[in-house]
Amino acid sequence: MNEAKGKRDNWSGSLGFILAAAGSAIGLGNVWKFPYITGMNGGGAFVLVYLGCVLLVGLPIMLCEFTLGRHTQQSPVGAFQKLCNKSARNVPSARLIGLLVIFAVLGMICFGSYGYAALLAIFGILIFRCGWVSVGIVSVFSAATILGYYAVAGGWTITYIFRALGGGLNFVDKSAAQEYFKSIAGDPLISVSAQVGFMLICGLVVWFGIRRGIERVSKILMPILLFMLFILIIRGLTSPNAMGGVQFLLTPDFSKLSTEGALVAMGHAFYTLSLGMGISITYGSYLDRQRNIFLSSLAVIGLDTLIALMAGLAIFPALFAMNMDAQEGPGLVFQVMPMVFNALPDQIGWLWCAIFFLLLAIAAVTSGISLLEVCVTFCIDQFRWERRLATLCATLVISAFGIFCALSVQDWKYIPWLQQALFTAFGEVRGNFFDVVDVFNSNYLLPLAGISTSIFVGWIWGTRRAVNEIRHGANNFADIHIITLLAGLKNDGRRPATEVVWTLASLWGIFIRFITPSAIVITFLHAIGWLKLGA
Ligand code: PHE
Repeated sequence: MNEAKGKRDNWSGSLGFILAAAGSAIGLGNVWKFPYITGMNGGGAFVLVYLGCVLLVGLPIMLCEFTLGRHTQQSPVGAFQKLCNKSARNVPSARLIGLLVIFAVLGMICFGSYGYAALLAIFGILIFRCGWVSVGIVSVFSAATILGYYAVAGGWTITYIFRALGGGLNFVDKSAAQEYFKSIAGDPLISVSAQVGFMLICGLVVWFGIRRGIERVSKILMPILLFMLFILIIRGLTSPNAMGGVQFLLTPDFSKLSTEGALVAMGHAFYTLSLGMGISITYGSYLDRQRNIFLSSLAVIGLDTLIALMAGLAIFPALFAMNMDAQEGPGLVFQVMPMVFNALPDQIGWLWCAIFFLLLAIAAVTSGISLLEVCVTFCIDQFRWERRLATLCATLVISAFGIFCALSVQDWKYIPWLQQALFTAFGEVRGNFFDVVDVFNSNYLLPLAGISTSIFVGWIWGTRRAVNEIRHGANNFADIHIITLLAGLKNDGRRPATEVVWTLASLWGIFIRFITPSAIVITFLHAIGWLKLGA
């Protein structure tokens, strides 16, 4: 138990690791976002593009993160520290970039954007002083702040389970559903206590460590999640008019697919795979060298995509059966879905609601614990704290931060000073604090951390060292010739595989050095509005 002084905890095997990593990836995004964006962007055509993005950006970066974690056996911060000490090459470039960023601050001050100037100054100093280690620091910061607002939504799912069981979700029309959602999200007492409750559940799991906590819980919860999805799919598909929903989701309509849609797919690939916030580095750091990280990454990505598609199959047929609109986000799951379940002809709407919200809560908890674990591992590795102390502190600090997210969901009236402060600093405030934290992380920090990780592994640490790490436990998988693999001649054995150039390892190297960073830059520029492509 005492990891700081004793042996580091670890996963008992590949299955536990894969289920835990998949648990992190499969979250609210799979249920409330993927089906919707698929429907809006050309159904099956979008799914193809999304799969492309997952393979283009998701898989290469996930491999980078797992490799960094397993090689260093450290938290994201420790991982970069350990690798940077060995090569001093990072220093001059870091100083240069840091200085450039600090210069940009002057420009911002001239334009009167003090909030952005302060943010950039922090970044500049961080890069100047810590070099690549700042990527790790930013990842841990993202994990903590994302958990702050994620726990608020997680708390709602738990509240809804209880209400469903008590028959309280029997809305007949949209305004009743909206009113009810407001009464939960807008009530400070309910909102904050649900959020704190969610944090306590995550804290309890992380308290018990990797093997006895996270792994055990994932092994129980993930099969339950899959089972409940099956039930909901069967219910959905047997409703009248269900095929309309299936067609909406899966029929490829290439005319609806725009460049815009491709960028949406890319951004979502990042978010849904939980990349850029140090989760895969942290989970990888508890993995031993006999495990195949290449196949594990494929399994995690496969499971995440499968569940996203299944969620679409559970939601759309029922939605179409009841002639309801698809909409994204909390509105879809907290308002539209309870109405849909209640309107189904079988009179047991409360049961479908309870199953649906339990499923959401499980998806949210397994993602929440991965975010908390990033912070806990950071405290254990950096401050040599005991796991229990680290868990306690991380849970408390993040819960305290989350209170601000919970309080601002309906409006700012409980924390007007925070809105005022943000307004003074940035000149505008879009949405509530919950949205501000989400946008800041999803649009800026995650892509930045992702691209830096990819460049770090590709150019600074070096693909050679990285591939040597991947080779452990991978049975020469990295050295298999791609053409022979595709042709089914994998074990031909006539030529040593390392002699040929087109191996999976070299393909991965090319990706993380060139293709993945370019793809992220394009998405990033689009997300911040500097690049307008297509319609
Ligand atoms: N991957 C999760 C999802 O699809 C989202 C998530 C984001 C989870 C950040 C953890 C951390 O919902």
